[in-house]
Amino acid sequence: MDNFAEAAKIIKNSSLTIALTGAGVSVESGIPDFRSPTGLWEKYNPAEYAHIDAFRRDPRKIWNMIFELMGMTTSAQPNPAHLALAELEDMGLLHSIITQNIDNLHQRAGSKNVIEFHGNAEYLQCIYCGAQYSPEEFVIGTEPPVCKSCNEILKPSVIFFGETIPYNALLESQKLANTAEAVLVVGTSAVVYPASSIPHIVKSRGGSVIEMNLEQTVLTSSITDVYLQGSAGETLPILVDQLRKSE
Ligand code: APR
Repeated sequence: MDNFAEAAKIIKNSSLTIALTGAGVSVESGIPDFRSPTGLWEKYNPAEYAHIDAFRRDPRKIWNMIFELMGMTTSAQPNPAHLALAELEDMGLLHSIITQNIDNLHQRAGSKNVIEFHGNAEYLQCIYCGAQYSPEEFVIGTEPPVCKSCNEILKPSVIFFGETIPYNALLESQKLANTAEAVLVVGTSAVVYPASSIPHIVKSRGGSVIEMNLEQTVLTSSITDVYLQGSAGETLPILVDQLRKSE
């Protein structure tokens, strides 16, 4: 049986399947990932640009990176990988997506059960007075947005290193990891904790791990049951076709 047929069989027999996605899912939408040779962290040192202490020290410097990223993400559209995951949910074969991505592309592709483990860049928050702002409350120009209550520079509502995962996202994800019979791990290097613990929890309970990535990761030779190598925009539609055929 080829790997796609094996993956399809696991999903068909699973009473609850979840997905953990990372930046690799959005690369075919034009958004770079972080740790590939062309990734964002090759250009921006995460210790200097993605840690909450760095933001407190020099928010304008961080906003220079954010403005560059915004230039790439504002025109980004869901790609076949996002659409395939939304289709799996429609088919009743995928319960939820736990995403590390902040680009809102799963939701725009039609996925309804999406847990944003690292927040969402379309929202803004004030780390000084706690004010929260939704996308429609701010039109971001070329200057960093400023809090309407306390005048401090706002931060996108994404989780920087040194910050805690949103409580509800963590609780919901752990509940799902403790009930799932299969997890699709798509486009993530699976090196950032606690998101990276999700496939391990599923595996430790006897669940199956199906990994979809351009290259092998720390999971591939340790806990992955089925490894589908390739770009997510190609492998996920093939998997959906395989499942459609066996409907
Ligand atoms: N299809 C499938 N996989 C891909 C593709 C693609 N088209 N392009 C890249 N990949 C894979 C890479 O091989 C890599 O394993 O996606 C993975 C991306 O890994 P990272 O760049 O580390 O991104 P991610 O795992 O999402 O990072 C996790 O780290 O910096 C933090 O907060 C940031 O949420 C991010 C977290």
